[in-house]
Amino acid sequence: MIRCARVAGLVGIPLPFVTNETALTPIRWGILATGKIAHAFATDLAHVPGAELVAVGSRRLASAEAFAEQYGRPGGPAPRAYGSYEDLVADPDVDVIYIATPHSLHLDNARLCFEAGKHVLCEKPLTLSVADSEEMVALAREHGLFLMEAMWTACHPGVRALQRRLAAGEFGTPRHVHAELGFVVNADPSDRMLNPDLGAGALLDMGIYPLTFAHLMLGQARSLTAQADLVVARGTDSGEEGAIDMSVAMTGAYDNGALATMHASMSSWSSAAAAIATDRGRIDVREFFHPTSMVFTPNAQKADWTDADVALEPVVIEPDEPVLGMGYGNEAAEVGRCLRAGLVESPLVPHEQTLTLMRQMEEIRQLTGIRYPGE
Ligand SMILES: NC(=O)c1ccc[n+]([C@@H]2O[C@H](COP(=O)([O-])OP(=O)(O)OC[C@H]3O[C@@H](n4cnc5c(N)ncnc54)[C@H](OP(=O)(O)O)[C@@H]3O)[C@@H](O)[C@H]2O)c1
Repeated sequence: MIRCARVAGLVGIPLPFVTNETALTPIRWGILATGKIAHAFATDLAHVPGAELVAVGSRRLASAEAFAEQYGRPGGPAPRAYGSYEDLVADPDVDVIYIATPHSLHLDNARLCFEAGKHVLCEKPLTLSVADSEEMVALAREHGLFLMEAMWTACHPGVRALQRRLAAGEFGTPRHVHAELGFVVNADPSDRMLNPDLGAGALLDMGIYPLTFAHLMLGQARSLTAQADLVVARGTDSGEEGAIDMSVAMTGAYDNGALATMHASMSSWSSAAAAIATDRGRIDVREFFHPTSMVFTPNAQKADWTDADVALEPVVIEPDEPVLGMGYGNEAAEVGRCLRAGLVESPLVPHEQTLTLMRQMEEIRQLTGIRYPGE
């Protein structure tokens, strides 16, 4: 297996993006769970140079078998199918496991992986609480294993290009970020989107994206405010009540007076767009969590600032590198790059960034009254 240096915080070493597939040490992936996002991830993994899906584990063997059959590479061996997560993590040919279960199960699943010596890419949000996320990070460090939250937005080549060019001042100084993400959830009360036992609610599922986008563009928030539309729901396993948010509106204050307004919803269809207003114009981002279009439109009164090194005509902002599949491929490629370089965390999604966003969401939960069974 690929071992990583047991050095906490060994991040930030830029390595060239290797595109020559034959030069890459294969990264052998296992997928833990066979739900919706596991399917999207497996589809994109096929686009990642040097990545091999070697095994999948599910609570039901039939589901793992169907998944393995669907995602085997043409001409290659079918991934092995396991009827339990325990059997998956015991597979000696798996280097790294992608955890694709509901949020409330991530910590137990990650512990299982680390105890079996496997690196982990864990779906967002890492856990329901800051304490549990800190425990997961501590476990990874104790075992000297790689851990990254699957925050694909931070690995997306479009977002990275935007971040780099905005920070370089190419579009002026950012003053305001707006980002919103929402869709109407029509699901059974047992579904993870509505079941408080599984970490239901808009904030943890969707609100994490506008918060992350603002963090990537403006830096760490100095303060946050929030309002939420709560409903009381009973966990379908525990029978206990929780208060989950159907919709959450948030504001953030950042350095240099920059502000953000952010919204996430399970009860309304939002634009899924973001806009960054600067002192020189506006950047419009479609599908900001995996941008499909990014355009800077300069303010018409450009005569005032022809001295500045800022574009005078609209600029289409292009990704820095190819987008692999929907963009989940880029997060898998980043994991591969880190493992080959012996890193235990990614400079694109460092543990501290994940924990910062978890702290923000915990603060918003306290401000609005979002709570889960047992709290
Ligand atoms: N990055 C993204 O764009 C993105 C998008 C959607 C979701 N996500 C994240 O991915 C995670 C999974 O979301 P999803 O939409 O894929 O959920 P999902 O469709 O409900 O699938 C979750 C899977 O987890 C497994 N599981 C284990 N115990 C379970 C339990 N008690 N109840 C339900 N499922 C259980 C099941 O797989 P088996 O039966 O095979 O064991 C199930 O199919 C969430 O944390 C979510 O935030 C990320």
